[in-house]
Amino acid sequence: MIDAPSVLAPTGVIRQPAEVRCAAELAALIAHDRWPKPRGWRLSPRMVETFVLGSKESLPGPDGPVPIPAKFVGDRRLVQVAIATLASDRALMLAGQPGTAKSWLSEHLAAAISGSSGLVVQGTAGTTEEQVKYSWNYALLIAQGPSDAALVPSPVLRGMRDGAVVRIEELTRCAAEVQDALISVLSEQQIAIPELDTAVFARRGFAVIATANTRDRGVNEMSAALKRRFNFVTLPVLTDLVQETEIVARRSRELLHDLGVEPVVPRDLIALLATVFSELRRGETLDGAARVKTPTTVLSTAELISTVANGALLGGFFGDRPATVGDCVAGLVGTVAKENPADLDIFREYLATVAKPRKDGLWPAFYAAARDAVG
Ligand SMILES: Nc1ncnc2c1ncn2[C@@H]1O[C@H](COP(=O)(O)OP(=O)(O)O)[C@@H](O)[C@H]1O
Ligand SMILES: [Mg+2]
Repeated sequence: MIDAPSVLAPTGVIRQPAEVRCAAELAALIAHDRWPKPRGWRLSPRMVETFVLGSKESLPGPDGPVPIPAKFVGDRRLVQVAIATLASDRALMLAGQPGTAKSWLSEHLAAAISGSSGLVVQGTAGTTEEQVKYSWNYALLIAQGPSDAALVPSPVLRGMRDGAVVRIEELTRCAAEVQDALISVLSEQQIAIPELDTAVFARRGFAVIATANTRDRGVNEMSAALKRRFNFVTLPVLTDLVQETEIVARRSRELLHDLGVEPVVPRDLIALLATVFSELRRGETLDGAARVKTPTTVLSTAELISTVANGALLGGFFGDRPATVGDCVAGLVGTVAKENPADLDIFREYLATVAKPRKDGLWPAFYAAARDAVG
């Protein structure tokens, strides 16, 4: 009989927002918060830090101890600077390469500070000024003229009105007009609505977290005026293999759990894949003994997580329950080759010069599976 994984998470929701996923933790942190909170915040800065970076000790909860695992792995100071910025009158810019947890960190900061991470503007070339200010329900507008009922607030306007954290994803992809609109919003801390002869003023607790991909630089470079309204925090690419393996193991387990699939990827396999990603990314072997050509494509932690999760699905659905090297290699090759076919040649060279000579652990199996996959 085939032991097929069940694919429905208990709630039926594929991905829950941080405030739902971590509701018990947030409640315990609120209950045990002894420090002063900035006005409009649900937690003190110290407790926000504890939520983001985790704590060794569990907190007592109504149904037993509540563990507080780390959400973000990284420099404590950097997280403190981010949190302090949100309590100031400046906005926070999380910059970095793709897959460095910019969105992930901003979601968790918003959930901890405001209890909701859902006020999001997704920045694209098509983002309009209305999406950072307000628009209208045109049926109502035509029927009764401008009215509160006909006004459709943007996430930014709602954040101002409710005193909550607003997230603006990929700000540098927005056109200059949208960025300019944001300058006036941030500097005046209000949005004027001339049609109603009124303005919405930002309440305490309102703050903006924007993210920007440093690879996109040049798409729509931020103006100096807008930059001045932000504190920049740059999230580094992970360089510590043990840390990255740990994050990938945890996040892929959570992802699979959300999908209702038993997470079964052996730790040594995750460590091997993390080594491959890391060596291709940094352009040399981990021991520094040999140089490796670097593909043009991004090989981020986020992509490593998907490679591992997809491998586990393949193993779970079609193979032996624990994912094998072969299950994970298909995703790896797809990730390497996604942008540029020349990257496959670089990967072939890596296989021949670095992977093939390694005879320990899973390396021979990896070499054989990967060589078959790339042909
Ligand atoms: N330093 C880190 N700490 C915790 N998780 C990380 C870290 N770096 C990457 N990740 C994981 O990788 C993924 C990053 O995805 P995302 O936040 O969408 O990246 P970005 O927005 O920077 O492109 C998340 O699932 C996150 O858990
Ligand atoms: Mg992102």
